[in-house]
Amino acid sequence: MNCEYFGKCASCTLYDKTYKEQLEYKIDIEKIRFKQYLPLNFEVYESEEENFRYKAEFRLWKSFTDDNKLKLSYAMNDFDKKALEISTCHIVSTDIKELMPKLLSYILQDDILSFKLYGCEFLNSTKGEMIFTLIYHKKLDTLWIKKAKDLELKLNIKIIGRSKKQKIILSDDYINEVLNINAKDIKYIYKENSFSQANTKVNIKMIEWIIKNATLSNDLCELYCGSGNFTMALSPYFRKILATEISKTSIQTAKINCKLNDIKNIKLVRLSAQEFTQAYKKERFFRRLKDNNVNIDEYDFSSILVDPPRAGLDECTRQIVQNFEQIIYISCNTLSLYEDLKSLDKNYYIKHFAFFDQFAYTKHIETIIIFEKRNNTLI
Ligand SMILES: C[S@@+](CC[C@H](N)C(=O)[O-])C[C@H]1O[C@@H](n2cnc3c(N)ncnc32)[C@H](O)[C@@H]1O
Repeated sequence: MNCEYFGKCASCTLYDKTYKEQLEYKIDIEKIRFKQYLPLNFEVYESEEENFRYKAEFRLWKSFTDDNKLKLSYAMNDFDKKALEISTCHIVSTDIKELMPKLLSYILQDDILSFKLYGCEFLNSTKGEMIFTLIYHKKLDTLWIKKAKDLELKLNIKIIGRSKKQKIILSDDYINEVLNINAKDIKYIYKENSFSQANTKVNIKMIEWIIKNATLSNDLCELYCGSGNFTMALSPYFRKILATEISKTSIQTAKINCKLNDIKNIKLVRLSAQEFTQAYKKERFFRRLKDNNVNIDEYDFSSILVDPPRAGLDECTRQIVQNFEQIIYISCNTLSLYEDLKSLDKNYYIKHFAFFDQFAYTKHIETIIIFEKRNNTLI
């Protein structure tokens, strides 16, 4: 990929390499990090080289042309955290890339839309649905709503306006996505301002890899389930799934995703990982479990799937996962994964290990490890 902003825009930190070279560079670093753990048959899954991000956020930067006309640009941080004006971005999806200049020229012509506008976000599905969020330093009023509605209709997108203590949804705050997993369509809604995997094509590879390599039997326990990205796709392979997550919005979305796919064997409960460990160890009673008709004792769990945020597992969760025969660990941070792996190593061996290039041209890489218990001792 050739980008005119490589070496200037701080978003892509591995800019002096081809796609294949940047991946090789990252894998070499991870091979050293995981040297005593990495199985010989570890796998690496590539990303598309361009247009792979279905989510993006930019600053909106105002300046004046030489002849004193107002100019509006998208901007990213440069390596000194100063604004770098950009006219395009090659890592965002083709839909986002094509929409960017159209939006800008429309907004620039309209004082109501452009006044005190300082940021924006895109959320796109692979089927072409788009949410565009405009972020302001002003109160949004009925005039703004009228102008934004015109823009929504003109460009056939969904618009959201955000300002301090204000969120205006003109039509919906979600998009519909369909992931084709092993030749079967699974429907999802992705909510604005909620977690979703940014690199949709790599996400599909991750889900398919788990289905291919994990032992899919009995019941599954899932922590950090978000809106059910893995949960929906794994549901046909397990008898029952209990999935938990800290975010109320994500749990509500996951429940909608179950309905969309007519899935009946998933129970979703809003519990942090720490709360789940308390419930599992019967240290605390949770009405939320009762209200969702969940009795943890009725599950015959063999597997636990965890996809924690960058910090990795906390001490209690690290202990509790060791009650399961199989741990499917998805990580976006190899540093915290390495720390967790060190403590799991005593009781578990690594059955499968794969890297997925979710974050091409950055030093980050997504990893999935499938652990299996070394013996039948429960912790
Ligand atoms: C990396 S995301 C994964 C979400 C989901 N598995 C997916 O693929 O879309 C991590 C998720 O963990 C949730 N989370 C963060 N801290 C948590 C905690 N302490 N307990 C439970 N969930 C938490 C976040 O809300 C987020 O949805």
